[in-house]
Amino acid sequence: MTKGKVLVAERIDDAGIELLRKELEVDLCFDIPRDELLEKIHDYDGLIIRSDNKVDKELLEKATKLKIVGRAGNGIDNIDVAEATRRGVIVANTPDSNSISACELAITHILAGAKNFTYADSYLKSGNWDRDIFMGNELYNKTLGIIGLGRIGALVATRMKSFGMKIIAYDPYISEERFERYDVERKETLEELLKEADIITIHTPRTKETIGIIGKKEISLMKDGVRLVNAARGKLMDEEALYEGLKSGKIASLGLDVHEKEPRYESPLYEFKNVTVTPHIGATTVEAQQDVGVTIAEQVIKGIKGEIVPNAVNLPGIATDELKKMKPYIELMEKLGKLYYQLNSYPVKNVNIVYWGDIVKFDTEMLEIAFLKGLLEQVNNDRVNYINAKMTAEQSGISIRRQKMKEHYNNYSSLITIKITNNAGEKFTLSGTVSNKQEGKLVEIEGYEVDVKPSEYMLFVKNKDVPGVIGQVGTIVGQENINVATMQVGRKVKGEMAIMILNVDSEISKESLDKFKQLENVIEAKTIIL
Ligand code: NAD
Ligand code: MLT
Repeated sequence: MTKGKVLVAERIDDAGIELLRKELEVDLCFDIPRDELLEKIHDYDGLIIRSDNKVDKELLEKATKLKIVGRAGNGIDNIDVAEATRRGVIVANTPDSNSISACELAITHILAGAKNFTYADSYLKSGNWDRDIFMGNELYNKTLGIIGLGRIGALVATRMKSFGMKIIAYDPYISEERFERYDVERKETLEELLKEADIITIHTPRTKETIGIIGKKEISLMKDGVRLVNAARGKLMDEEALYEGLKSGKIASLGLDVHEKEPRYESPLYEFKNVTVTPHIGATTVEAQQDVGVTIAEQVIKGIKGEIVPNAVNLPGIATDELKKMKPYIELMEKLGKLYYQLNSYPVKNVNIVYWGDIVKFDTEMLEIAFLKGLLEQVNNDRVNYINAKMTAEQSGISIRRQKMKEHYNNYSSLITIKITNNAGEKFTLSGTVSNKQEGKLVEIEGYEVDVKPSEYMLFVKNKDVPGVIGQVGTIVGQENINVATMQVGRKVKGEMAIMILNVDSEISKESLDKFKQLENVIEAKTIIL
């Protein structure tokens, strides 16, 4: 099999590149001009970027082979995630890798502002000495207002407590428990926070709602002498309003790691000595970059190989420890999905998935996605993947329902039953479970109880329940040199219909299959490839 190909369009740590090289063909094109990227992208399965490149509709249209965009960092506002999802392209980032670094940089700006640090430094280095002009403030007993108490906001909160600050936060999207966990006072409105805080730091993503969240009106509500920091994203604080606030003296200091336009070489804001600026270096530490580089390489390798990508932003989020428990179920569901069109020809209309027992405690969305992926891969082209399986099912008019039953079905700690109705009104059912050994098993098919570990190659035989059929099937297996790993038989009513499922070591040819079909008591014989 040929190796997948990845284009690394912005610098990532060498450890990440090394990892990529072990598994993929890697092209390093740091700082590639946009035109060149557009010209080349059709050739790649993976693309790695930081924040300099835009992955928009224009690029995605040309990226006909692309399976995954790896964002080496956190913010994904430079990626059209909706368009990527529509095209089945995974978007993955490294949300946890640089949070501590970004938090520490925000705190550096807070301290630098309160202590006039950078001005004092340049003043002395340019041959001057004075102390009075650098009168600052203590942080002790002051109130820090945090807008956005997510990963970075919470890290800032816990650290700034050690300075003896009172911490308040505004974040309408998180639970009361999160405020309690970080011992942060919740502000119901942004206005309340603006009026109370001595220092305000923002840690929200850049969205339609947060662009310009701090403007002229908001600054007018703040305390005189307020100190502001933005190490999240440019445009969250309106720079014109910041300029006016600094000019009037309302704002005592401003720290910016992120800017309206990046890169940027000059700004009216730079005329103020109480403004500290850094060129978007929140994540620029050895530790963060190593972690970001390795993590994004791992995600991209998985994405290109068609495995589950834990950090995919366009898939339901699954925590790593939960993913470990869910993995055998995800794999089983994909295999169960693959069975339908290999055994039936009518298009699927409705799918009703019933979860029994312990499995109901998990978020099962990923299981449904895996089932749909397996199902639709058989009839659509190979562009169906975890990302667009749900959307493809919707477009094909397949409706999905789920039921969760806390009680255990028979002795299964968890059981998943899939009931399919097709366009001809026929019903088809499948049930599966995961054993204590973490192996997925098919335990029921069309009402027949079985115990089959789905394997790559299988033979499915439906026959009359009469003596001798098993022997006849066995004879053909021998004559055709088919090596059988396991064989399962099942029936509902004695003397009526029965099934046989054989796990075999290699693909069964059409000629061999015809021989099974020609047996007198065989009603149907089908090969299955998973
Ligand atoms: P996160 O998703 O963990 O947290 C963001 C928080 O903002 C969430 O709790 C969310 O509920 C809240 N939020 C969203 N809209 C809001 C609104 N209108 N008002 C108040 N709160 C709102 O994100 P994170 O990992 O903490 O990152 C925060 C920001 O930092 C992002 O913009 C990210 O891109 C940026 N970042 C910058 C650097 C850097 O180098 N400067 C590095 C990493 C992250
Ligand atoms: C991020 O979102 O991770 C940061 O802004 C840092 C970066 O883009 O590298």
